[in-house]
Amino acid sequence: MPTLFDPVALGALTAPNRTIMAPLTRARATRDHVPTPIMAEYYAQRASAGLIIGEATGISRQAVGWPYAPGLWSNEQVKAWQLVTRAVHNSGGLIIAQLWHMGRMAHSAVTGRQPVSSSATAMQGDAHTYSGKKQFEIARPLAAEEIPSLIADYVTAARNAIAAGFDGVQIHAANGQLIDQFLRDNSNFRTDEYGGGIANRVRLLGLVAKAVADAVGADRTGVRLSPNGESYGVDDSNPAPLFTAAADILNAIGIAFLELREPGPEGTFGATDVPRLSPLIRKHFHGPLILNSDYDITRAKADLDSGLADAISFGRPFLANPDLVQRLREGAPLNKDEMATYYSQGAEGYTDYPMLAHSKTLL
Ligand SMILES: Cc1cc2nc3c(=O)[nH]c(=O)nc-3n(C[C@H](O)[C@H](O)[C@H](O)COP(=O)(O)O)c2cc1C
Repeated sequence: MPTLFDPVALGALTAPNRTIMAPLTRARATRDHVPTPIMAEYYAQRASAGLIIGEATGISRQAVGWPYAPGLWSNEQVKAWQLVTRAVHNSGGLIIAQLWHMGRMAHSAVTGRQPVSSSATAMQGDAHTYSGKKQFEIARPLAAEEIPSLIADYVTAARNAIAAGFDGVQIHAANGQLIDQFLRDNSNFRTDEYGGGIANRVRLLGLVAKAVADAVGADRTGVRLSPNGESYGVDDSNPAPLFTAAADILNAIGIAFLELREPGPEGTFGATDVPRLSPLIRKHFHGPLILNSDYDITRAKADLDSGLADAISFGRPFLANPDLVQRLREGAPLNKDEMATYYSQGAEGYTDYPMLAHSKTLL
């Protein structure tokens, strides 16, 4: 049985271990969404992960409504990301870019334009903006004629990711973001070929995945889904057939891996009673499956041993423990993540989480 510390092939990449870093938005880019040098330090500290799935990264100005989150649509961003990817590679790691469109979760106070989505819906609550919290706005439904240019934005960002030195990309189709807003039936009320039945709701995901795979290689393209339970107000009345249909499409494209965020009833970053769909999805997607949410080493071992997962991704444990792989291997205690500094600017709670004392010389 493979352990968390054994290598695994993820498409074109060979991850030296199965302890993957989950994507974590940390808001350390500039106000104009350009990565900063401290991000190179942060990611290089975590280079012993089998693979770093980088933080959600906007594919266009319209896409990114999160203050100080990075993007991948300009040459300036590509150049700035090169520092990050070089630092990770110099430390022996692998890093891919998570391609992000927030859809209705983006706010005009950050993007300068009305948010777009599958349908004219608004997220409940307030968005974080540069001028404080502001109520989410009603999104403008994307016209079918606009879909090709949306797909082109994903392709450009994917090509830019490779130009920036990333080892691949992950399409963010989870957590109530734009593609998820098309997938699920409580946010998609369209009557055209992108709405209604399941075959129509999975269409955008399939088109984006195919176009990105054609541009950078299916073997360098991953996808993230969050099939079970509500996520940022997005939910589905019958998730099993929806997400198995999505898995079938991704399987046919031959993507490098599929990652699922599957919180349980006691989940701390989202909780749900909807059972996880990974056992079913496993039967439809035959490539490597990475599972996420609230894993510790015991649960990770169980899901690797049973063959349910090929690898496990850790979010908050990696945030707070740059040397997580070594700590898990040695059974060392873990630092606790500090929520107050998740999205704060600067080094505090970012690059200052301590390594194990005797591992310092390794990095
Ligand atoms: C601070 C923070 C930022 C996050 N940013 C992202 C993100 O950019 N993209 C994404 O898909 N998920 C994001 N997530 C979700 C994590 O990837 C992960 O699914 C979640 O933390 C559960 O895994 P864990 O229990 O190992 O932390 C974020 C979570 C946290 C705590």
